[in-house]
Amino acid sequence: MPSYVRAGSLPHKRHIQFRRPDGGLYAEELLSTKGFESVYSLLYHERPPTATLDVLPWKRPQVRLVENDPLRNRHFKTGALPPSGLDAIESRVPLLGNADITVSIAQADRPMEYFYRNTGGDELLFVHHGAGVLETQFGELAYRERDYLIVPTGTIYRLIPAAPTRMLVHESSGSVKIPRRYRNEFGQLEEHAPYYERDFRAPVLKAPVNEQGEYEIRVTNADRNAVYIVQNHPCDVVGWDGYCYPYAFNVDEFSPITGKLHMPPPAHATFEAPGAAFCAFVPRLFDYHPLAIPIPYNHSSVDCDEVIYYVSGNFMSRRGVEEGSVTLHAAGAPHGPQPGAVEASLGKTSTDEVAVMVDTFRPLMLAELALGCEDSNYFRSWVEVPASR
Ligand SMILES: [Fe+2]
Repeated sequence: MPSYVRAGSLPHKRHIQFRRPDGGLYAEELLSTKGFESVYSLLYHERPPTATLDVLPWKRPQVRLVENDPLRNRHFKTGALPPSGLDAIESRVPLLGNADITVSIAQADRPMEYFYRNTGGDELLFVHHGAGVLETQFGELAYRERDYLIVPTGTIYRLIPAAPTRMLVHESSGSVKIPRRYRNEFGQLEEHAPYYERDFRAPVLKAPVNEQGEYEIRVTNADRNAVYIVQNHPCDVVGWDGYCYPYAFNVDEFSPITGKLHMPPPAHATFEAPGAAFCAFVPRLFDYHPLAIPIPYNHSSVDCDEVIYYVSGNFMSRRGVEEGSVTLHAAGAPHGPQPGAVEASLGKTSTDEVAVMVDTFRPLMLAELALGCEDSNYFRSWVEVPASR
């Protein structure tokens, strides 16, 4: 989506005859979004992607969500979850969700033995720990720690970890986009954007898997699920081009915008999706006014729920959080530095923290995992503890 990409063999015009060496026709496929009116790609398969041998039920466990009631700030310690022994899809455990987005933790300990396709919206996977390959019909996308993997709706994929992979998973109901204010009238990233097209990694197209058999694709679309058994290998693509493809962005490549005084979260925006805004907080120099307070002021974001996932470093403005912690600062609930944190921050010139955030503009509900690992005293963490005598 950041820019036009072409890979492999293509005919010189779209929608014309494109023949294999044996004289047969390659099968052209349009993968488009918003009907035919938003980004799309054209893929050329050895054989048609439509050959469906069977469609079976995929009975996924129902996600039970409860209201954030009483409405308050919360802290979930997800870092201590045991290894799952499962793959990237089966290990997904929802944490928070609403009609726009579901946020889950996944701990992929083994390769997926089937393909997966989410046709209900884009997925944004943040890799906390681990490395491996996302195998797709567009090619292979190698991933590593602190990568965002942006997976457009309709992508068929299989995640193959080379090392156990812990991810924060965002399932959106729409498109994950680069904020409009970072792009010029032609879509190119502006000079003031905190990243550049060169920072995004596209999949590497491999030799087509020119095989027939019975291949399993687990398909999900909102709450509707199915298992497709298809005759032709999904990765039998000889070439593709367009703007719709999975890509990776490592937050180490994010060039944070810093200032004389405190910069609010929108200065750290990475992506956006319907009802959600994503930010990355990465190692950076602090504000350079001689009297600047480096850490955030007290605030209540009255019209959004703020979710921060703590990745690494010293989280100076938050008491009690650790790697893998998730804080939910609920709409309207005041929060800010805990007692003593402002004084402790004075004179500091930089931070080594890495954290990623998603703000949602509709209320988030809580899933069972969240309630099971909640630090239920977090909302009291701003109370001043009297000095002992
Ligand atoms: Fe906040």
